[in-house]
Amino acid sequence: ALVTSTEMFKKAYEGGYAIGAFNVNNMEIVQGITEAAKEVNAPLILQVSAGARKYANHTYLMKLVEAAIIETNLPICLHLDHGDTFELCKSCIDGGFTSVMIDGSHHSFEDNIALTKQVVEYAHARGVVVEAELGRLAGIEDAVNVSDADAAFTKPDEVEEFVTKTGVDSLAIAIGTSHGAYKFKPGQKPQLRFDILAEVEKRLPKFPIVLHGASSVIPEFVEMINNNGGKMPDAIGIPEEMLRKAAAMAVCKINIDSDLRLAMTGSIRKYFAENPSHFDPRQYLKPAREAIKGLVKNKIVNVLGSDGKA
Ligand code: G3H
Ligand code: 13P
Ligand code: ZN
Repeated sequence: ALVTSTEMFKKAYEGGYAIGAFNVNNMEIVQGITEAAKEVNAPLILQVSAGARKYANHTYLMKLVEAAIIETNLPICLHLDHGDTFELCKSCIDGGFTSVMIDGSHHSFEDNIALTKQVVEYAHARGVVVEAELGRLAGIEDAVNVSDADAAFTKPDEVEEFVTKTGVDSLAIAIGTSHGAYKFKPGQKPQLRFDILAEVEKRLPKFPIVLHGASSVIPEFVEMINNNGGKMPDAIGIPEEMLRKAAAMAVCKINIDSDLRLAMTGSIRKYFAENPSHFDPRQYLKPAREAIKGLVKNKIVNVLGSDGKA
């Protein structure tokens, strides 16, 4: 069924695991993710960015997810990723999404509260849940361009007031993750501010926290890209051990997009390199879909711990 994340987060918090929130942009991605989740019986959040919506169209994505629910019979939450305006959130709520993110992290604290509150009021009246963000992640966010210099960790001092004043259902925090495939500089030791997460957890007991920019940038796929004509030197992500630790703490939703992109691109590059004469898209999209499926299954079982929880 198409569900909100409320029940998922409650169980994930209590169970010390996290729900995978995977970005979807086309049919093969939806199929790869949902077939994996089906095999290990995991609840899922499928999320759509403004860019995804522009690329594939709201209705196509909505119907692809509905098809996946029919095929898998899994509880799936359909979520807007990084909504930047009330209007975009409203459009997704009106269009059948069960969850939206309003990302006001680039606004002042007061403006973020006001914007988030406006979305929460509209969403809750229609049975839809809302995620907001405090602190700014480095890297590229959809419609929200944050340079390294503008990135800022979440201030634990602010979270209680923010959640109380907005009525938001979950909160994304900035503790050192970032979007994309280059999360740490070469030679830099990957590090996350678990002290901030612990402090947030203390101030917001039982409240679900969200981790963006949480791809591991799996070396196997980076190598597959680089060995088949690609050029992604020094691509580096969040070590899986850190994600496990976050999931055991208050983090209930872990966002993954870049890993899907790398798996898809790596397998297509490899296929093209090995089969230069082929031109039927089904031939190269099939291994791409399989790679996504394998990746997601591994994430669910070995990192998120959401297997068997659907
Ligand atoms: O937060 C970023 C997600 O990976 C979505 O990326 O805006 O290019 O679809 P996108
Ligand atoms: P990654 O770029 O690490 O996959 O993060 C995705 C994300 O946070 C989507 O909102
Ligand atoms: Zn994000």
